[in-house]
Amino acid sequence: MKLIFATNNLHKVEEIKAVINDSFQVIALKEAGIDMDIPEPHETLEANASEKSRTIYHLTKTGCFSEDTGLEVAALNGEPGVKSARYAGEGRSFDRNIEKLLQKLQDKPDKSARFRTVISLIIEGRETLFEGVCPGRIIDEKRGTRGFGYDPVFIPDGSDKTFGEMSLEEKTKYSHRTKATEKLVAFLNSLEPINKF
Ligand code: IMP
Repeated sequence: MKLIFATNNLHKVEEIKAVINDSFQVIALKEAGIDMDIPEPHETLEANASEKSRTIYHLTKTGCFSEDTGLEVAALNGEPGVKSARYAGEGRSFDRNIEKLLQKLQDKPDKSARFRTVISLIIEGRETLFEGVCPGRIIDEKRGTRGFGYDPVFIPDGSDKTFGEMSLEEKTKYSHRTKATEKLVAFLNSLEPINKF
């Protein structure tokens, strides 16, 4: 089955393809010939994920999915959450977002946080949502240069490395995105053959 992944973030594409491997053909927006930055105007990850997949489904009438991810920090009442990409303003700078996060957490003893991913899949006009959560904590300064976003300051439970210090394979073992994608794959595998092609 061919599925369009409604994203322009190549890190996300790489991470999701590492989980889906060859079971399904996943093509990103650019590969599908779609040049579009889909807005994320809503107050929840679920609504933003839906908006992205619905936009692409209406345009292509092809099976597609999207995902929205947020970093939820306990001491900040779940911030930056759905605003993770633009935490420090419209510029979408990973460095400035991390700077703002570390500043806000400076005096907070509780550094626990989690990444949460919501995937919205639309096949034959029907939408299904899948969630993946990765619990962990934020450290005081950046470590590692791999990955993207908040990876250099996030250590998942069960590891002493940040996501920024991990290879793709290592991050895949812990990641929120992996957990949501595994649920997506299980669902796709459970579909009747007639829906698969
Ligand atoms: P998006 O709105 O789902 O594209 O992601 C929001 C923001 O969350 C991104 O710009 C990144 O800063 C951050 N983010 C999403 N996923 C990850 C991840 O796996 N690691 C680190 N940061 C992430």
